[in-house]
Amino acid sequence: MRFETRLLDEIRARLTLSDIVGRRVTWDRRKTQPGKGDYWACCPFHQEKSPSFHVDDRRNRYKCFGCGASGDHFTFLCETEGLSFPESVERLAEQAGVALPAPDPQAARREKKRAGLADICEMAAQFFQNEMAGPRGGEARQYVAKRGLSPETLREFRFGFAPDSRDALKTYLKAREIPEAAMIEAGLLIQPEGGRPSYDRFRGRLMIPIQDDRGRVVAFGGRTMLPDGQPKYLNSPETPLFHKGVMLFNAHRAREPAFKAQEAVVVEGYMDAIALYQAGIRHVVASLGTAFTEDQILRLWKFAPEPVICFDGDAAGVSAAHRAIDRIFPVLKSGFSFQFCFLPDGMDPDDLVKDQGVSGFHEQTSAAKSLFDVVWEREISVSRLDTPERKAALEKRFDDLIGTIRDERVRRRYQLDLKFKLSNLFFESARQGRRTDGKKTGTEPSFLGMVKEGVSESDDFGNERLVLGLCMRFPHLLDRHFERFSRLPFVNTLHRQLRDVLCRIVDELEGTPIADLTQAHDTALRDIMHEMMLETIGLQQQKKAEFSVLNHRFPLLKSHPPEDFVEAAFLHFIDVLELNALEEELDSELSGADEQLDETVWGRIQALTQDLSRRREECARDEAELAERAKKIRAAPPVEALAITSAADA
Ligand code: UTP
Ligand code: MN
Repeated sequence: MRFETRLLDEIRARLTLSDIVGRRVTWDRRKTQPGKGDYWACCPFHQEKSPSFHVDDRRNRYKCFGCGASGDHFTFLCETEGLSFPESVERLAEQAGVALPAPDPQAARREKKRAGLADICEMAAQFFQNEMAGPRGGEARQYVAKRGLSPETLREFRFGFAPDSRDALKTYLKAREIPEAAMIEAGLLIQPEGGRPSYDRFRGRLMIPIQDDRGRVVAFGGRTMLPDGQPKYLNSPETPLFHKGVMLFNAHRAREPAFKAQEAVVVEGYMDAIALYQAGIRHVVASLGTAFTEDQILRLWKFAPEPVICFDGDAAGVSAAHRAIDRIFPVLKSGFSFQFCFLPDGMDPDDLVKDQGVSGFHEQTSAAKSLFDVVWEREISVSRLDTPERKAALEKRFDDLIGTIRDERVRRRYQLDLKFKLSNLFFESARQGRRTDGKKTGTEPSFLGMVKEGVSESDDFGNERLVLGLCMRFPHLLDRHFERFSRLPFVNTLHRQLRDVLCRIVDELEGTPIADLTQAHDTALRDIMHEMMLETIGLQQQKKAEFSVLNHRFPLLKSHPPEDFVEAAFLHFIDVLELNALEEELDSELSGADEQLDETVWGRIQALTQDLSRRREECARDEAELAERAKKIRAAPPVEALAITSAADA
């Protein structure tokens, strides 16, 4: 339904925006100036401590300077109460005492017909409820009791029973002067071909009314109570009232709790939704067992920004999740997504709450995966990355998928994040490839043959120590690569200090042996320098044990590798540290770019990403080469090895 601008203006003019907003926020007394129609509060759309949410009564607009939310009377109601636009207009028109125009005659006829059909469905619901309570309902009462449904739940969801008869409902409705054609149109009767009499669609089934957004009964689901009855669930057909692809079971109850909690759970079956509701999880809806439609996705986002969809943990559940992804991608928009919860194999949400209670269910939903991760796993699980063509194929699949995202900002974000993740993946897979090669020939896993010092030690820590250790052991490296070394982004504070000390030594005190300087600095620093050069235990063997810790980190040094190998290894460690820093930088660019993703930022991020993936590849190649050489060195240590040791001692 379209509303005229004049009408909307009239409503806005009659209702003061700050009154509407004021029901949801507390005004900041210091900043607010009611005389000017100028109101400030903490934003209801995001968490904040100081008020950056502004309402301008003269211009009929609100705007948050923190999160950017903005709009008028109608959008405020849509955003805070999860109403649709027409609903917000209806609500405010009533408050403002503005009459909404009568819809056009055709629409009016359609609406009247729908209302008529809804009345018929309501009568049917009452009939089924009566039957459930009556003499014919014994079996149904037993069935629901066995399933653990409480009397309150049965009442709330209006469970009923359709007797096993050709025309019990038909007779009941006829007595209330409902034309047969209307019963058929409401989906309650089936009209067979060839002029035979129509008969009740639902016979001998437990009946669950399906209600629309306003709580009107618009359709039914009927469950067989026979162990192998077919079909298990029989649903109303599509009718003017009931469109399966739009419908979310339990939406009218779930909308408010979901909106308040900013959380929603989506399950497949109505029995699942009912069981969760009974267990106290109120923000739950069911999709009626069909694939998601765009309509349902957009409606779910009115409930919560990232509804959790539950899937069975089996193969069917995974493929249902994958189908959902393809529906979600085109309509993705900033701030909205879905989470995917894969339940333990063979269990649906109904089984799970019965078995493990609400806490067991929460445990599952809190482990839900992000859309991004599920997409990633879906593509990676079927990919081999051992050739350039296969890598390209994977890249293309991602490109195609991302290409379906209509929202430009989200599309770019996916492009960036995936490119970044792919470059990591290719790097890791190249590495792993080498590791497996290594195993085959029975050599060390890495070219260092390195033993990790302690479990708490990060890769960065180890690499930083190696770079520093090599500088002290082979000062000519420091001399030759002074520029790069002096700007090297060490993560560890002590390492940064030591870097500066070493640089100063080169700058100012040329010629002074490093060992003489260890006395000059504070204890922590001195300790590292000692660690670098000396055995910490057994001081009497000092001379022999020099650089034993470095040697322990880099055992290959004991085989006295040639000078150019040591240099190449040194540069490789520097590379790795620089790459990690570059990655950090990209990370912070990426999170900073959430605010404003303009051409400049985009360009810079792209350049960084490309630079990073190019250097990662080079780095991986270097490591492979070093590993090859290391293998040979270990097999046959070079004769001129001692040359290095003496150069360093001099
Ligand atoms: P399930 O077969 O998973 O049933 O169907 P369920 O929810 O576990 O139900 P119970 O616990 O056995 O009673 C899930 C949904 O798929 C649709 C229904 O919407 C159902 O809620 N469905 C299933 C049908 O429409 N027809 C069927 O025959 C089966
Ligand atoms: Mn079930």
